[in-house]
Amino acid sequence: MPVEITPIKHEDIPGAARCIQSAFSSDPYFKWVFDPSNYNKNRNISSLTLRCEWGIRNALFYVAKDTDSQEPSRVLGVSMWLPPKSANEPESWSSFLGSYLLWFKQGLLNVQHLGRGGLIYRRYQIWKRSQAEAQREIWTDPNGYYFCNIVVVHPKEQGRGLGRKLMEIVTDQADKEGRRCYLESSRKEPNVEIYGKMGFKVLRRMICEDDGEKCDLYCMVREPLQGDRQ
Ligand SMILES: CC(C)(COP(=O)(O)OP(=O)(O)OC[C@H]1O[C@@H](n2cnc3c(N)ncnc32)[C@H](O)[C@@H]1OP(=O)(O)O)[C@@H](O)C(=O)NCCC(=O)NCCS
Repeated sequence: MPVEITPIKHEDIPGAARCIQSAFSSDPYFKWVFDPSNYNKNRNISSLTLRCEWGIRNALFYVAKDTDSQEPSRVLGVSMWLPPKSANEPESWSSFLGSYLLWFKQGLLNVQHLGRGGLIYRRYQIWKRSQAEAQREIWTDPNGYYFCNIVVVHPKEQGRGLGRKLMEIVTDQADKEGRRCYLESSRKEPNVEIYGKMGFKVLRRMICEDDGEKCDLYCMVREPLQGDRQ
């Protein structure tokens, strides 16, 4: 099957949202942060769609597609990366506005769906606080980090090299610029080993705990293989 990695287009968003949802359905973080008895799959797709729309404008955002497929909207994998920001670079107005609009539209979804679709908001906030603390501690490079915010391969397509391709499109760029990359994974096995093969190393564990239930995340950094800075 000939697979192409391309920047996402608007018409890819429904396929990308479905791919993210199916790949994350067994993710430990997903299981910790959503209440299965209240989980609303459609509400979750709407939320992922908003996130993808935000990503088109604000992130380095790619999809993997089978170029021979009869179904052109079928997305096999997705990666969304936040570009590096230097330590002393203030947030731009467009980035601030983009985040505000995303927050506002997520609020409208809560109204339309009469709730958060099973998201345990208290746990989401615990995670956000832990994430901010981990990144403050780890992100010491003044040149900033390429942050892999989402990488997923559809469960039926995993283990065929798509994940590596979705990562390398940005890690190759990071190598050319001599920059570090960063990601967080809540799945130790096999992800820590998979990302290890792509050059990432665990720097810290992030432990989120609520009501006796824990979610461990692995914060991983990749050093550039080459670049002007070295
Ligand atoms: C993690 C994920 C993105 C990796 O994508 P993938 O397409 O399955 O991975 P690849 O086939 O490109 O494999 C990359 C490398 O890991 C190795 N690998 C793949 N699966 C592995 C496994 N189960 N155990 C050990 N190594 C494995 C491959 O051999 C390859 O190594 P090589 O290129 O040095 O030969 C994908 O499995 C996934 O979407 N998982 C579910 C969602 C998820 O956990 N997302 C990440 C959240 S942080």
